[in-house]
Amino acid sequence: MQHIIVASSILAADFSRLTEEIRRVEQAGADWIHCDIMDGHFVDNISFGPEIVGIVRKETKLPLDVHLMIQRPDHYASRFVKAGANSITVHVEREADHDVEKTLRLIRDAGCRPGLSLNPATPFESVEPFLDKIDILLVMTVHPGFGGQSFRPEMMEKVKRAAEWNKSRQRKIDIEVDGGINAETARLSIQNGANVLVAGTSIFRAKDYREAIRELRGSG
Ligand code: DX5
Ligand code: ZN
Repeated sequence: MQHIIVASSILAADFSRLTEEIRRVEQAGADWIHCDIMDGHFVDNISFGPEIVGIVRKETKLPLDVHLMIQRPDHYASRFVKAGANSITVHVEREADHDVEKTLRLIRDAGCRPGLSLNPATPFESVEPFLDKIDILLVMTVHPGFGGQSFRPEMMEKVKRAAEWNKSRQRKIDIEVDGGINAETARLSIQNGANVLVAGTSIFRAKDYREAIRELRGSG
């Protein structure tokens, strides 16, 4: 049985008690801490930067899964490496305004796992040329910018395509889904081949974080 990775997105955490929230979600069984970085240009929202990632780094040994929803991720990636990121995922869309292959190489050369993400409106074909250069494919199941949106089931086609790619190759990329992930949509995502679940609202709005994480894994 494949181990399902739960990456808790701190965008939905209570930032007035961030270090406590990190400890709580780690004790509740989260595998990764997903850090949603938004610049107000690539997405219509602004979240936090490398300083906050540095604070999170000091608080936990869990892998920090940094999701750059920003323009020019090539220019900023090194600051997140320095802050302690374990993986850095960038967007493939033209609006992210960078040389995708160059940025992925820069991330890997810096000792981080490179990831690539595509928005709901972006066809799977856009990421195909890069699949053998990444460790993580992040399939957005909502349009990025805000937590708490509804899951887009038609994105499962992309998850399936990524799982087929994995089957046809020796190396395996992590297939991560992000946005509107709860017990029900997690099950659907896993069924279609996802092995990493980003969850913000469904964990941090729950009374019992451990129960919420168990439900995501399907052992709820
Ligand atoms: C949306 C972010 C998601 C979000 C998690 O732009 O990329 O990671 O924080 O979404 P929910 O809260 O739906 O789990
Ligand atoms: Zn994210």
